[in-house]
Amino acid sequence: MSIRDPLASNELDGQVALVTGGGGGLGSEAGRRLAASGAHVVFADLSFEAAAAAADHAIAQGMSAQAIDLNVTKSASVERAVEEIERSHGRLDILMTSHGFPRDGRLLDMTDDAWDDVLNVCLTGTFYCIRAAARLMTKRRYGRIITVASRAWHGNPGQANYSAAKAGVIGLTRSVAKEFGRHEVTANAIAPGLIETASLRELDTYDALVERAKRDNSIKRVGQPADVAAAVRFLASPTSGFLTGEVIHVSGGRFG
Ligand SMILES: NC(=O)c1ccc[n+]([C@@H]2O[C@H](COP(=O)([O-])OP(=O)(O)OC[C@H]3O[C@@H](n4cnc5c(N)ncnc54)[C@H](O)[C@@H]3O)[C@@H](O)[C@H]2O)c1
Repeated sequence: MSIRDPLASNELDGQVALVTGGGGGLGSEAGRRLAASGAHVVFADLSFEAAAAAADHAIAQGMSAQAIDLNVTKSASVERAVEEIERSHGRLDILMTSHGFPRDGRLLDMTDDAWDDVLNVCLTGTFYCIRAAARLMTKRRYGRIITVASRAWHGNPGQANYSAAKAGVIGLTRSVAKEFGRHEVTANAIAPGLIETASLRELDTYDALVERAKRDNSIKRVGQPADVAAAVRFLASPTSGFLTGEVIHVSGGRFG
């Protein structure tokens, strides 16, 4: 069933959006939603194939998009990507950081690598992206920074690395909101609950996760990428300019 987008408009005409993790489940859907509202969307991912598939899907629907490969853990890769956007488009209006992954394990068994990998991608990668994007946004005195945290930021057993990284993303986002408000750049975080994506469906524990989400959510279903995309679209709007430093849970009423 295709749901008519109640927020559909040409409101983002002429704008440029960068979506990191743009080849992933949440990034590709949110990017498509931004493109459907008129933005040119740069889908950026460690997997160029995944980014290209997302961009091709949008282009096939008559939208404006492109794909680039990007490793958010390398600051030079991120700086290059934003410089290229500035050269080609002269602007960057929207940044959505949708890269990342969990690497779960009980704390006593958690390896240094499992800690470092998740912190590097989820937290340090988000810092690199915001720093590069904000240089351009503050110069132009406009920007919408939308980070993707997780409901797990409240703390989750077996997810010490991921919870710490996502709590860090929220602290980072709120600091950015305070630092850049005077430049008309907003920064807000989205904290999704369990959202059905291809990479999640591959987990051995997927069925158990779904059962638990249905039990603990007040809305008795698993989230869909479109649920997150609607929140991203709302935060990306030029009319959301007085809304900053917020954490929006897209979790069917499940907190903590
Ligand atoms: N799906 C959920 O239930 C859920 C819930 C809460 C939070 N999140 C968060 O939302 C974000 C997106 O999740 P998703 O479900 O779309 O996952 P996904 O696996 O479908 O997408 C993540 C994307 O990030 C990319 N990526 C990984 N490392 C990268 C790097 N170094 N540089 C650039 N790109 C990189 C991957 O290639 C992938 O395409 C993640 O941060 C995830 O932690 C997801």
